[in-house]
Amino acid sequence: MSRFMNVNGKHYRTIWLKEEDKRVVQIINQLVLPHKFEILDLHRVEDVRRAIKDMYVRGAGLIGAAAAYGMYLAALEASDSAFERDLLASAQILKATRPTASNLAWAVDAMLAKLTGPSGDMEQKRVEARSLAGEIADQDAEYCRNIGLHGAEIIAGIAEKKKGETVNILTHCNAGWLAFVDYGSALSPVYTAFDRGIKVHVWVDETRPRNQGASLTAWELAQHGVSHDLIPDNAGGHLMQHGMVDMVITGADRVTRCGDAANKIGTYLKAVAAKENGVPFYVALPSSTFDFTMRDGLREIPIEERDAAEVRYVSGKTSGGIIETVQICPDATPARNWGFDVTPGRYIRALISERGVCEASERGILSLYPERAANG
Ligand code: MRU
Repeated sequence: MSRFMNVNGKHYRTIWLKEEDKRVVQIINQLVLPHKFEILDLHRVEDVRRAIKDMYVRGAGLIGAAAAYGMYLAALEASDSAFERDLLASAQILKATRPTASNLAWAVDAMLAKLTGPSGDMEQKRVEARSLAGEIADQDAEYCRNIGLHGAEIIAGIAEKKKGETVNILTHCNAGWLAFVDYGSALSPVYTAFDRGIKVHVWVDETRPRNQGASLTAWELAQHGVSHDLIPDNAGGHLMQHGMVDMVITGADRVTRCGDAANKIGTYLKAVAAKENGVPFYVALPSSTFDFTMRDGLREIPIEERDAAEVRYVSGKTSGGIIETVQICPDATPARNWGFDVTPGRYIRALISERGVCEASERGILSLYPERAANG
């Protein structure tokens, strides 16, 4: 089945090369959604660095694809005389933008592996850089499409048990197509189930402090016609206690070989509430989000701490239609802002990847990825 994510009926990916000039990368500016749909041109590695760092693009898979296209621009910028040195410098710059999502380093390293080494023709390497970045983006989209197929089976099973009644799914942050190249991770099963005619409804956590649920997930679901309600971040436990959540699906920014999952701050609390209430909690991810070198997510996964201003201020549209940012605390209130938390594998009913569904444990993960057994 071929199915794409649309905006006002037109298919878009989140990142692509400009039709008229393939040396320019184009992105959807996620900073102005949902109030405005805007496409930006990125010309240089510095543009890509800023786009990732300042969250014009965000979400694990899209960060990876953006980094891959960033390395393509790096190859265009690199001098012939010091091609490899220049590429390595750009790789460092891109890798330093955001520490938690493993897709970033994975994509940069994949580009480096292809573009460095025995010297060859630089123009040829630039051509290869472009095609590899495209392959990384295509692979992300294809993997997410497959996550949708596997995850939809789980939703279909719940729908069957409920005799066709609506399946209520809670999600946190945005792990839809905006967080990837297309389809999404956590939302891909929702879209697939919806497209098959299964009745689904999504509880959308607003996801403070940056409100990716309110601004991005709610927008995506509306574009696709999926029933949803925005809820405050602290409402999920109450809904679970009252049987109003059939399953939770979130994305992930990094998952260790033992199944511990880093995801947007607040995910862990939802997983604890889900376990307490017997609600199955699923984490959906493409294989580029696994970090097979790590075991203990709590100790090992680097957690990005972001600017306190994200907690102290909120942005939104005034009744007059103007986008404004306002302060929500006393002038001198200090704040802290951890971007992610880690949900231990024991809270996760299963992981959903492009290869299938598995237990969130080393044994479960290696049953889908036996070739990674030696990478521990
Ligand atoms: O800080 P962000 O917006 O880049 O957050 C990442 C995320 O989108 C979430 O953690 C998401 O649920 C997993 S990444 C697809």
